[in-house]
Amino acid sequence: MKFLPVSPESLKEGAEILKHGGLVAFPTETVYGLGADAFNAQALAKVFEVKGRPHFDPLIIHIAAIETLDKAANLSLLSEETRKKLFVLAENLWPGPLSIILPKSEKIPGIATAGLQTAAIRFPDNEAALKLISLSTGAVAAPSANPFGSLSPTKAEHVRNGLGEKVDMILDGGPARIGLESTVLDITGDVFKILRPGGTPKEAIERLIGNVADGSSVADTAGALVSPGQLKSHYAPRTPLYVLSREEIINKPYEQNSAFLFYDNSARDEWFSREQSNNNSPLRRGSHTKEEQNDFTVIKVLSENGNSLEAASRLFEILHELDNSQASNIYAQVAPNEGLGEAINDRLKRGAVK
Ligand code: TXA
Ligand code: MG
Repeated sequence: MKFLPVSPESLKEGAEILKHGGLVAFPTETVYGLGADAFNAQALAKVFEVKGRPHFDPLIIHIAAIETLDKAANLSLLSEETRKKLFVLAENLWPGPLSIILPKSEKIPGIATAGLQTAAIRFPDNEAALKLISLSTGAVAAPSANPFGSLSPTKAEHVRNGLGEKVDMILDGGPARIGLESTVLDITGDVFKILRPGGTPKEAIERLIGNVADGSSVADTAGALVSPGQLKSHYAPRTPLYVLSREEIINKPYEQNSAFLFYDNSARDEWFSREQSNNNSPLRRGSHTKEEQNDFTVIKVLSENGNSLEAASRLFEILHELDNSQASNIYAQVAPNEGLGEAINDRLKRGAVK
């Protein structure tokens, strides 16, 4: 791990690390962020691994120029009126501590947004952050650079103490000016909502675009407060999803018009040979290939060698794909409950038929 003060050289080096899929912690005006290239699914999976988050939370995508907004968000999905309001907000409050939820661009992998079709976009007000982002791919996904469950870091030393060798570089830009995370504003619905209060006061937003609702105090059905930013943040496929242990999925008989999602090749191969040894299995007939469609039955593997980083980086894309296939049920194998496996299983279980 490199711990360097912000300088033209260190920023250039940091941008190279990002472009090669590495992780760089960097200063912003709110708190330090743990940055990864927003277009690189494996780099994004690493962010969750390093933070030790037991579940995938959608990340904030940081940009450094309004022209880049189109690479991260699909503004054509917004109404004309909302688009106008967005530009009023951007003109007046960006760069600054305001993250705006927008329909996501297809270029942003599903793991960045935890499977949601929306993305939080932020234009930070910090010279070093802006330079780093513009020298890299122009879009850097970053949660606060702290391990899961601990306080957000406002100094480079906090990042070093919390994450240390797990990141490739920490850029020291001195103490964060605001020291409190950005406000998260959702403008994708009919009613605009503040999902997380933060560095930009509600009044500053309302002065520009009128009333916004306080989404962070909405209670869920059990009466408990929904945690900030967690609203709508669970992606569940429309197709019924069943989560099975390794043994259960291996013994699950072939079923027409279904999708089987194996964790690794070994489970898929065991399932396949059990099917082939069964005289009644349709897989004994014809020239069905293992990987492709069989009578609309889709067989997929999250990671051939069972690498949890790869599995995590593909999870949401594959679930979306299966959801859009003709399968009427999805059977998914749990991941080994270690490393990112815990987060993968959390999301599978949240998306599963109760
Ligand atoms: O100030 C900040 O926002 C810092 C710096 C590094 O930019 N970042 C930060 O990220 O606080 P993080 O990951 O700790 O918090 C992101 C928040 C979470 O509450 C998350 O649920 C919400 O933003 N969020 C992100 N994308 C979302 C989406 N598509 N829909 C709803 N909430 C979203
Ligand atoms: Mg955080």
